[in-house]
Amino acid sequence: MDHLSVNHLLGIKYLNKKDIDIIFNTADNFKKIINQPIKKVPSLRDVTIANLFFENSTRTKLSFEIAEKRLSADIINFASAASSVKKGESLLDTVNNILAMKVDIVVMRHPNPGASIFLSRNINASIINAGDGTHEHPTQALLDAYSIRERFGQVASKKVVIIGDILHSRVALSNIFCLKMLGAKVAVCGPLTLIPKYLDDLGVSYFSDLKEALNWCDIANVLRIQLERQDVQLFPSLREYTNVYGINSTILESLTKEITIMHPGPINRGVELTSEVADSHHSLILDQVENGVAIRMAVLYLLSNKSNE
Ligand code: CP
Repeated sequence: MDHLSVNHLLGIKYLNKKDIDIIFNTADNFKKIINQPIKKVPSLRDVTIANLFFENSTRTKLSFEIAEKRLSADIINFASAASSVKKGESLLDTVNNILAMKVDIVVMRHPNPGASIFLSRNINASIINAGDGTHEHPTQALLDAYSIRERFGQVASKKVVIIGDILHSRVALSNIFCLKMLGAKVAVCGPLTLIPKYLDDLGVSYFSDLKEALNWCDIANVLRIQLERQDVQLFPSLREYTNVYGINSTILESLTKEITIMHPGPINRGVELTSEVADSHHSLILDQVENGVAIRMAVLYLLSNKSNE
């Protein structure tokens, strides 16, 4: 059996191309299984997984939970809002108390960049980063690239533009690392105030004009404006943002070719995307969600084998 080069999934930047190929090939097998009448396999029987969510989530949390149940793991769910974190308990104390209950894998979402790296250095369990602040969201990037591979047969040479709030987006950073590693051509588009200054170092080009970006790409991955991470106003208003960077069927119909639209969710309908586009044949959004389960099953399975070595 092929093995990952890492004991944790902390970010795409810690993986190599072979790791991603192994995850995709394993996900192919799990995708076949979860589309059969009997969806459950015993692969993670006797493995205990703690899902620690210190920040809100719908897709990632439910997708990990379903993946764990399909693999027959035992699960502990922890939501910080209803926990002793509210009484001042530290992250390390919280996790060490959970580990004393004999947990093998920790899946964690946290608002602070680097929180899962900190945990991996201080506790004896495999850590999966389910999104750490503005840093990385590796399983989202893996399921996005996997969905492109499924739709187009390959990721290499595809042109992907990521549109919107790149500055605050862990999805953008993980996608850039993942897509570049797989040989895609990557660009970003949005107001300059939402574009990070280190973009050149990542080998990514920039479009200020939405129509130019859409005419260049095969795939547009559209992001939400993360107002909750902006302590100063970085553009005049959401209405103006929508006028300049919102994607609607009028702009799609004016392009020289058909393109595919992706979005990691949650969508702010009518801001970055109209409902007409989000629910159209251009959209890969629900395929992304479906593929998230197979990708997370693959990551959990491969890391549980590493922790048994
Ligand atoms: N894409 C994503 O991370 O969505 P959630 O915040 O709902 O998990």
